[in-house]
Amino acid sequence: MQLSTKHLLGIKQLSPTDISIILSTAQQFKEVLQRPIKKVPSLRDVTIVNLFYENSTRTRISFELAEKRLSADTINFSASGSSVSKGETLLDTVNNILSMKVDMVVMRHSASGAPHFLAQHLPNTAIVNAGDGINEHPTQALLDAFSIIEKIGDLQGKKILLIGDIMHSRVALSNIYLLKKMGAEVMLSGPPTLIPKYIKEAFDVQVEYNLKKALQWCDVANVLRIQLERQNQVLFSSLREYNLSYGVSSKLLSEINKEIVIMHPGPINRGVEIDSDVADSSQSVILKQVENGVAVRMAVLYLLSGKKELGN
Ligand code: CP
Repeated sequence: MQLSTKHLLGIKQLSPTDISIILSTAQQFKEVLQRPIKKVPSLRDVTIVNLFYENSTRTRISFELAEKRLSADTINFSASGSSVSKGETLLDTVNNILSMKVDMVVMRHSASGAPHFLAQHLPNTAIVNAGDGINEHPTQALLDAFSIIEKIGDLQGKKILLIGDIMHSRVALSNIYLLKKMGAEVMLSGPPTLIPKYIKEAFDVQVEYNLKKALQWCDVANVLRIQLERQNQVLFSSLREYNLSYGVSSKLLSEINKEIVIMHPGPINRGVEIDSDVADSSQSVILKQVENGVAVRMAVLYLLSGKKELGN
């Protein structure tokens, strides 16, 4: 099975077949990860650099672990502490690393389009987008899809709600692309100031500003963080006010007459977009999402490497 692309820049560039191939390969790697020895030799002659220009806990550790489980050699680069502070450009930094015979680049960057820029200049090196600005976070959407399928089955016809800061969320955009391509219904809920006006028509999604009605509609609610670091203007009155209108609480969930699946990509701001008792409840698959991220990233790296044997 082969992907139609040499890079993973976004879900936008993937076909439904690509997405199915990644998810089914991830299922095979998930089985590997249940074994006493959680390692395969699939990428033992491959060297991967993890290039993080922006902070990360889950994505960074997950990629590094995925690479180790695949027996790849890994190098970790953080912009802080590097020669970026001396004025070195992104392209010069990457070209210097690649001259040491590195095969693949995993990159997180605060600038939307940074991985696309690299892919244009380095067409022969596989580039994996680990989150670029407010654009896309494709492996997050893939692990979210994997976790939904694991919990409630095929995405076709499922009702998925994304709650919160849609405007600044790369997780939201990647999820919308993926869920629509795979036949799910998508609804967005949050303050009108955090949901772009164009999005309803552009992506054929529903918008419901009343959170209780939106929760009543969905099978799965994916709760997003308020991205305060990306907001340069006041878009809602206060975090307290936000919590009162759009915070997912156990009281609100008890008022709808069905049990929905609760997701969150992390990091969580407890008491703002989600209350602790909901995040830690049996309805929540938040830590399953993190667990599944390793298998999904193993699948992405393996498929982009062009290797023909899983090695298991
Ligand atoms: N979900 C996510 O991208 O988390 P990190 O920022 O910790 O990687």
